[in-house]
Amino acid sequence: MSARPLRWGVLGTGTIASLFVEDLRHEPGSVVTAVASRSQESARAFGDRLGVPRCHGSHDDLFADDQVDIVYVATPPATHAALGHGAIAAGKHVLIEKPFTLDAAQAVGLVDAARAAGVFLMEAMWSWHLPHIGRLRELLGTGALGDVRLVTADHGLNLPSALAARLYEPSLGGGALLDFGVYPVSLAVLAFGGKPTRITAQAVMTSTGVDRQTSVVLEYGDAQAVLTATIGADTSNRAAVSGTRGRVEIPAVWYRPNRLELTGETGETELFERPVPGVGLHVEAAEARRCIEEGLLESTQRPTAETVAVMETLDGIRTAIGLRFPSENPDRGVS
Ligand SMILES: NC(=O)c1ccc[n+]([C@@H]2O[C@H](COP(=O)([O-])OP(=O)(O)OC[C@H]3O[C@@H](n4cnc5c(N)ncnc54)[C@H](OP(=O)(O)O)[C@@H]3O)[C@@H](O)[C@H]2O)c1
Repeated sequence: MSARPLRWGVLGTGTIASLFVEDLRHEPGSVVTAVASRSQESARAFGDRLGVPRCHGSHDDLFADDQVDIVYVATPPATHAALGHGAIAAGKHVLIEKPFTLDAAQAVGLVDAARAAGVFLMEAMWSWHLPHIGRLRELLGTGALGDVRLVTADHGLNLPSALAARLYEPSLGGGALLDFGVYPVSLAVLAFGGKPTRITAQAVMTSTGVDRQTSVVLEYGDAQAVLTATIGADTSNRAAVSGTRGRVEIPAVWYRPNRLELTGETGETELFERPVPGVGLHVEAAEARRCIEEGLLESTQRPTAETVAVMETLDGIRTAIGLRFPSENPDRGVS
């Protein structure tokens, strides 16, 4: 570990920004030095509540803060690309909440800009750094499951607009697919090693014009992923990856710190469980710090190519269900 802790600047003062700062107490190599909000009052209230010393009333002030090494973008999806570019232009490393951007073109733009600037860039797909997903990656890497034939994954929470207005707002990149579906789609991309060959999807839309619920079949040659996401019901939130030589099952809630059960060819089972303190968000911060200390510009646990493949798959699903965001040029296809 480096002699000086990695100094984080947080953009946004909402739910995940608060949880992230609280969890960083479990990451001794990191310290949160700054927060930025669209209002000085909100930044100050956040700083007072969570012990963050430098509170900025604009994002640009945080980009200019020389006490910040890495910017954590914890704002709504429609703002991720512009804020990511702002951080990169200021020479900061960047961690951007999921979904990384609104579409794949924005994702590629960020990846190119970060490479050109020589700064570290990663999507905050926190689950991908948790021990059970690490074990799954290992099992996939060694071929222990054989040829993967079926991935099933679900992410659903009952969040009416009174509780989560952001999710119902098209101009912020709302809807079940981008916010929740990014997890099941990421699992399919991880298990099959990339984008699907064919996408079938159907959605139920809200009156505000985003998807309340989306059901997806991704084809990978003769294999499939069957995925669901909803903001209208508390669902099973389970996942499974089944291959010709074995099966991995992850009980609810599969994308949080969890156990994993492997069933092998002859029916033998292995239970993998590694408790993680707090919510578990500090593990992604530790991975970002490790990469930066080693001079890496991206993480092997969540490489930018995987993020782009996920965004391309989400683009394809959005084409299938007819979901467009107001900022998107209607002349440009989303797939
Ligand atoms: N990893 C996870 O488990 C997890 C969980 C929840 C959310 N997320 C992701 O984190 C991101 C934020 O979600 P959240 O639930 O924390 O949202 P949230 O509670 O609504 O907070 C978002 C914050 O962003 C700022 N903001 C709101 N509208 C903005 C705008 N138009 N432009 C710039 N900033 C704006 C606000 O801070 P100010 O008013 O102070 O500017 C707000 O507090 C999303 O991408 C979401 O998918 C991840």
